[in-house]
Amino acid sequence: MTEPTAETDAETDAEFASRLIAWQRLHGRHGLPWQVDVNTEADPYRVWLSEIMLQQTQVETVIPYYLRFLGRFPDVAALAAAPLDEVLALWSGLGYYARARNLHAAARQVVTRHGGHFPDTFEQVLALPGVGRSTAAAIAVFTRGERRAILDGNVKRVLCRVFGVDGWPGEKMVAARLWELAEGLLPERDIGAYTQGLMDLGATLCRRGRPRCPDCPMADLCSARRQGRQAELPAARPRKPLPRRATAMLACLRAGEILLEKRPPSGIWGGLWSLPECACDDEPGAAVARWGLRAVSAIPLPGLAHSFTHFHLDIAPWRVEVGRGDAAEEPGRVWLTLEEAREAALPAPVRRIIDSLA
Ligand code: ADE
Repeated sequence: MTEPTAETDAETDAEFASRLIAWQRLHGRHGLPWQVDVNTEADPYRVWLSEIMLQQTQVETVIPYYLRFLGRFPDVAALAAAPLDEVLALWSGLGYYARARNLHAAARQVVTRHGGHFPDTFEQVLALPGVGRSTAAAIAVFTRGERRAILDGNVKRVLCRVFGVDGWPGEKMVAARLWELAEGLLPERDIGAYTQGLMDLGATLCRRGRPRCPDCPMADLCSARRQGRQAELPAARPRKPLPRRATAMLACLRAGEILLEKRPPSGIWGGLWSLPECACDDEPGAAVARWGLRAVSAIPLPGLAHSFTHFHLDIAPWRVEVGRGDAAEEPGRVWLTLEEAREAALPAPVRRIIDSLA
């Protein structure tokens, strides 16, 4: 860690919260659909839903999903009562589907363990599936005004830069230092504006690429800016190159209908509807024959690449017209019209392939 002098540190700590609160009031984001004004009591269900959607996803992307979700599931009981498939279908396109599965499991826990009343202590919220320390803290701040520290990706970036914290934030020691900083900086008052300000500063000015330092209220305090290290901080994960895997996806069409296959409940794209796959060096005609289908034609479509946390996937899609009477009905396989398929919970690259079919 780069150690500024003790005087500078103390000065920065004291200024940080007051500048952030003043900046948020003038330049931060207001009127987001999950925010309430000071006179209204926040609904913990809505705040929780928004915070889960906002994990790893930007505000502009989240808004339409949040509104659709809330329209369909206005309260935690409605969400708990819905089949997981419907939840996944409404989530389709937001990515990181474990969030949707956890959300649904958590709603059911709220019903079974808390009598349908969204829990109102930090510890109980933290115990829900999909809720970590930072999300539980954000919910406590925005619903009850509790004085708690958040530390999501945006906040880590702000703190690493302003306070010159070296090392990859995913590393235990670095994370511990950042939590300590985040706790130590909390203001005595205005925790809501402060917390929203941290999120807003990270998302709008202290961006990963091309930070808008001249507009930043912390510019003259910021260690990274003083040292010209904005591009270096926060330090990137020390990475081995991710392995590449490859698969062929077969868009089997039968009289305008497409064959979809449900993914196993856990693992990549767990519970989503996908296209049947075969090895890239497999003959599509031979692959579909194993499923009881006769290929009338097989045409390669443009390849796609998709990155997961642990590997890159290269996808070779095929359009395979099959005989009209062919079935391939097995548990977990369905024939749907293209229109119906587009309504299903599909992984993003599968959606792209289906959208490209006339
Ligand atoms: N990122 C995470 N939570 C957020 C929130 N409540 N508002 C804006 N961005 C966020």
